[in-house]
Amino acid sequence: MRTSKVATLRKYAVTLVVEAKNISEGWLKTFNLENAVSFGLPEIDDRYHVWRVPLIKMGTKERIGEVVIDAYTSLVVVDETTAPDVLEARLLGRNEVTESQKREKEHVIDMPSSFVRNTVVFGDSEHALLDMPSQSVDLIFTSPPYYNARPEYEDYLSYETYLLKMRRIIHNCHRVLSEGRFFVMNVSPVLIRRANRNEASKRIAVPFDMHRIFVEEGFDFIDDIHWVKPSGAGWATGRGRRFAADRQPLQYKAVPVTEYVLVYRKHTDKLIDWNIRNHPDQQAVEESKIVDGYEATNLWKIHPAFHSEHPAVFPLELAERVVRYYSFKNDVVLDPFAGTGTTGRAASTQSRRFVLIENEQKYIEIIRREVPRWLGLATRDVMFIGCQSPDMSSVLV
Ligand SMILES: C[S@@+](CC[C@H](N)C(=O)[O-])C[C@H]1O[C@@H](n2cnc3c(N)ncnc32)[C@H](O)[C@@H]1O
Repeated sequence: MRTSKVATLRKYAVTLVVEAKNISEGWLKTFNLENAVSFGLPEIDDRYHVWRVPLIKMGTKERIGEVVIDAYTSLVVVDETTAPDVLEARLLGRNEVTESQKREKEHVIDMPSSFVRNTVVFGDSEHALLDMPSQSVDLIFTSPPYYNARPEYEDYLSYETYLLKMRRIIHNCHRVLSEGRFFVMNVSPVLIRRANRNEASKRIAVPFDMHRIFVEEGFDFIDDIHWVKPSGAGWATGRGRRFAADRQPLQYKAVPVTEYVLVYRKHTDKLIDWNIRNHPDQQAVEESKIVDGYEATNLWKIHPAFHSEHPAVFPLELAERVVRYYSFKNDVVLDPFAGTGTTGRAASTQSRRFVLIENEQKYIEIIRREVPRWLGLATRDVMFIGCQSPDMSSVLV
């Protein structure tokens, strides 16, 4: 097996030629090009920490492009990789579309409605997302799993491993999200409790690390909304108790009563108006107008929610607001960390479709139980992947 010295030295995630080829093959498969293209010898470009994998027209020696892979994260760098439509044109010997033709096409193009129906997937979203068509989702709303550094609960070996997993999922979300549409994430700093009295507790600013990942993965920052809870809410964290007791300067610690709702838009050169004007269902656009009262500032006062079977649910009201402000009726809303499925319920109450992905059996069971309550008999049309459809005998006609 060919391994690269420089890759090992630099502690890249991708160290083998065969790994670089496998990643490239996976990428080609998402565009059904794997049978038309073979690979030249992958090389490392360690100035930019990337692998470059030459793409060759099958059965010839003609080089038609390359796949560029981030050597640290093992993700395909989409902006630097030869675009699939360019590869197709080169394979067919057609002239490539010029920039002006492209722009012209974009004006007349009709964005098709996504044909994805209500779907519940039991599985790891990093992999499940690969089975979804590109640009088949109109909004993503989620809150990521909690990073917990306590060894007894540890799901991730380190914070870096956690961030890498989040990056892979955000990367895969980017492909399935339609051009210019929104990815909204509810996320907050995490408190790592001290192990003993001589140690300080530690706070990790997860939202700021997430922000960097979003930007690097091709999203534009739009808004930081602050979900504000009633002031009693944060005291359970224990923060601020010490200062409340002895009032010593430097001991001051603010009691957290907010969470971030970060809003990103999949990068495009087009204005938001373009998304509205080109929406395939103009009646849905008209019917989705928010005519009643709406939240004009970035402070959203909403009571937190609790669930007896899940430790970290967000309130239905929060999900409904996000769904109403960032999608149109009948759009597809994805939650890659679905938990109890609050996003799915909000999508249903707001006449949108949902795709829920969750990797814990016990939470999938909650979703299976809930869906008939949201949709009644229409549950029959929901696609359940990796899990059984719910028993419909108890659903009233
Ligand atoms: C913060 S909770 C989301 C709760 C949800 N917003 C609700 O209201 O019920 C995050 C969820 O992501 C799930 N999860 C973690 N890693 C995952 C992965 N790789 N793929 C799919 N789900 C995952 C966890 O099991 C957990 O239920």
